[in-house]
Amino acid sequence: IIHEATVSAPTNIACIKYWGKANSQYNTPINSSLSVSLDQTDLRAVTTASASSSFDRDRLWLNGIEVLDASTSKRFRACVDGVRALATDKVVVDPATGAKCVVVTKDEWSGMHVHIASYNTFPTAAGLASSAAGYAALVAALVRLFGAEESYPGEFTAIARQGSGSACRSLHGGFVAWRAGGKKSDWSDSIAEQVADELHWEEVRAVILVVSDAKKETSSTDGMSDSVATSELLAFRAREVVPKRMNIIEEAIKAKDFESFGKVTMMDSNQFHATCLDTYPPIFYMNDVSRSVVQMIHMYNAWAGEIRAAYTFDAGPNAVLYTLDKHVVELLALVLKYYPAQSEDLVGDYVSNLALAQ
Ligand code: DP6
Repeated sequence: IIHEATVSAPTNIACIKYWGKANSQYNTPINSSLSVSLDQTDLRAVTTASASSSFDRDRLWLNGIEVLDASTSKRFRACVDGVRALATDKVVVDPATGAKCVVVTKDEWSGMHVHIASYNTFPTAAGLASSAAGYAALVAALVRLFGAEESYPGEFTAIARQGSGSACRSLHGGFVAWRAGGKKSDWSDSIAEQVADELHWEEVRAVILVVSDAKKETSSTDGMSDSVATSELLAFRAREVVPKRMNIIEEAIKAKDFESFGKVTMMDSNQFHATCLDTYPPIFYMNDVSRSVVQMIHMYNAWAGEIRAAYTFDAGPNAVLYTLDKHVVELLALVLKYYPAQSEDLVGDYVSNLALAQ
């Protein structure tokens, strides 16, 4: 018998950035962060997890290709072993008699190996393939497969965080905060929680401008480790700046205040990239086109006399613009005028709503 479950999870884009680990074993951050989960069917990871006593080892396939050393990877093990430890008995109810029957006991799950097949629906040209959606979908699929139950609220996000930090935020839809934690010695307080659901501020839209689809030169994991080791600005940011910004952005989201939300989002992207420049040797994720997008958005907002769009950049040159539904057409017209030659490549149909991890 093969038991299986299929789940999908969204990608998320941070407004207040996670950059820097406090503890590499638990993969916990030096500061809290906050993101928006993008609900676009082509920006998700879809994962099937299966378990059987006939499987002789754990195996993983990504987009149809087997990852040969997956079962020994620390991140994969943390997710599989973490969720399996929370497994419950699988019970089926006989529809005729209503009698309950345990088909797999909790202990039997622990003796089974898993086969995981994950696809991402990101357009390859988007250069956005994200580990966040991937590890969130892995954890969510395992939770469903094993009927896992949390021993404290947020435990599943703490497991996903050990796959990839940003993945913990993709277990929720809407606006999601990852609380840095650190008061508990096992870091069980480093968890993600929803600040507002996807229905709270439905007018918010994300527009993704694909500046380059090349793989990033410095991975987030390596980049942030160099930044923690060398950037004094990063230490100052984590200690002094981010706690204030978390308050500001959470208030802005609750009040649906785009002016405040947009401003703090842009400032935080800028400071994150400033810490990259302050890293020694410096790391450059944004390029000349990225910087021209920054200028375009500031010109647009200055012309409008209010913040109608906000940019943010992760560990790569692509821009994610947040705006409101009523400004999307105006914003896309501006992008097409500003980048006429590249518009085919630059503007995808990536106008997203916000929604739940399913
Ligand atoms: C710039 O979550 O990919 O996107 O925990 O090492 O897997 P690891 O890092 P990762 O870093 C994401 C960095 C970022 C900012 C963010 O998403 O908050």
